[in-house]
Amino acid sequence: MARLLVFGNEKGGAGKSTLAMHVSTGLLHSGAKVGVIDLDLRQITLQRFFENRQHYANTRGIDLPTARVGHVTSPQDTHQSGWEKIAFDSAITELGGGVDYIIIDCPGALTPFSALAHAAADTLITPLNDSFIDFDLLARVDADTNKVKGPSIYSEMVWDARKERALAGDKPIDWIVARNRLSATNMHNKRNVGEALTDLSKRIGFRFVAGLSDRVIYRELFPKGLTILDHKLVTEVPRKMSNIAARQEVRDILTELRLDGLKLGI
Ligand SMILES: Nc1ncnc2c1ncn2[C@@H]1O[C@H](COP(=O)(O)OP(=O)(O)OP(=O)(O)O)[C@@H](O)[C@H]1O
Ligand SMILES: [Mg+2]
Repeated sequence: MARLLVFGNEKGGAGKSTLAMHVSTGLLHSGAKVGVIDLDLRQITLQRFFENRQHYANTRGIDLPTARVGHVTSPQDTHQSGWEKIAFDSAITELGGGVDYIIIDCPGALTPFSALAHAAADTLITPLNDSFIDFDLLARVDADTNKVKGPSIYSEMVWDARKERALAGDKPIDWIVARNRLSATNMHNKRNVGEALTDLSKRIGFRFVAGLSDRVIYRELFPKGLTILDHKLVTEVPRKMSNIAARQEVRDILTELRLDGLKLGI
């Protein structure tokens, strides 16, 4: 059975697709067989990343490890209730038993597909920009003390997904919040968000990782379908000290996923 790694956050632009691309390529370079399903049917960022990657490899004649793409297709009659579940399950079946991991990229909104993916997740990775505006979807914070007052909409949705899994007798979701676009400056905000996350993680049960700093290298290779983890196979990834640090950030996220039997090859 493939392990389902779901990248979700109802907040748009939090870094779901960016993280999903880097985790996918990290797994591929570690020798894992990876399938991906893009549930953001308008943007299909993750799917396009792998199309770009295939094109790059084909036109250059390079053997780049790549993922299989599973598709959710809507039926003729979308009035039929429950079609999303059928489409979601058949995308998983399309990838079949041939993969070790299925990476699912969710849209930045609550849709029937993203609710299904959250309920099916073995691991849920929620990237979070280092901002109280993004934090607000996870929990409400007291303006004077920065203490968490209570969970808010996204955490409640994850809570519902957890309940659904428990009722079905499945293992609990391993939930990881990864801070994203951390800046080298703005230490005050960084510390405040960090404290609020520590507080919340104890209350609602997730682990959090430092995640990715804000770096151009995480976005500029997208048209070629590459990431910094491809540095040994292509010349496009500049050999710079900052890229060594960037690779370490991705490595730390992959380590924190605690995937049984995975030996990191990056
Ligand atoms: N760590 C980072 N460093 C630099 N740029 C980043 C980083 N993370 C994300 N970005 C950029 O921020 C924007 C939003 O990121 P991304 O598309 O991954 O978010 P998303 O959560 O998938 O968004 P959506 O909800 O629209 O699907 C993109 O332009 C991306 O290149
Ligand atoms: Mg996205």
